[in-house]
Amino acid sequence: MLRLEKVRVRFHDQLVLRDVSMKAASSRTTVLIGRNGAGKTTTLRSIMGLLPLEDGRILFDDFDLATVPVHDRARLGIGYAPEDRRLISDVSVEDNLLLPAVALSFAAFERKRRLDEIYALLPEIAVTRKRAAGVLSGGQGKIVALGRALMVGTRYVLLDEPFQGLAPVLALSYADTLARLRQTRPSLGLLITESTPKLLEKIVDSSLLIERGEVTELTKLIGSHTAAAQ
Ligand SMILES: Nc1ncnc2c1ncn2[C@@H]1O[C@H](COP(=O)(O)OP(=O)(O)OP(=O)(O)O)[C@@H](O)[C@H]1O
Ligand SMILES: [Mg+2]
Repeated sequence: MLRLEKVRVRFHDQLVLRDVSMKAASSRTTVLIGRNGAGKTTTLRSIMGLLPLEDGRILFDDFDLATVPVHDRARLGIGYAPEDRRLISDVSVEDNLLLPAVALSFAAFERKRRLDEIYALLPEIAVTRKRAAGVLSGGQGKIVALGRALMVGTRYVLLDEPFQGLAPVLALSYADTLARLRQTRPSLGLLITESTPKLLEKIVDSSLLIERGEVTELTKLIGSHTAAAQ
């Protein structure tokens, strides 16, 4: 379980997260819906330890992430695909995927095991493995960013507006990929931000609304697709 308790984040004189309390259960898909500037990215960056909290706590399986340095959060099994992908354009797709594994000094066999798993799950990027990330289409780049988050995200994956900037047909295909991920990794917790959550209808278990830095729970579906799939 990933849980935020009264998290407060401020940029200068602007309070951007106002006592945000929310949870993202493991084995479930939680969608955080909000307009531009509502605080979606700030929420995910706070979880990853990229922003200091003015107040509140972020708990991962009941221990406080404040005690876990940023570089060790990925080691806990939390992967993050930022809004803007941040792939290294002149480096191959495969090396982009491996970057977090190298940063965390995974053994060679473990790197290969995870890479094989990602290619099996995302065959559309397996065929691009030797290409420079910079020549990929926007849709392919998004999938590589997802693959990179999955390299370390064995427990949770945080996706920031995964469909943003994608043509409708590519967004649909990405949504299908997420549905496949949901089935192949049922224990994975997904926390996804979106402004229009329509494409996530098939996989969402819990919807949260963020408005001006305040989060409210919209729905909580009991007996989800994940339970049915298990
Ligand atoms: N580094 C920063 N310095 C100052 N203000 C910031 C910074 N990052 C975000 N903000 C402000 O915090 C608020 C929330 O921003 P955030 O990026 O979390 O929103 P968002 O919901 O992700 O929006 P978007 O849909 O545009 O991605 C906005 O008012 C934004 O201007
Ligand atoms: Mg954002």
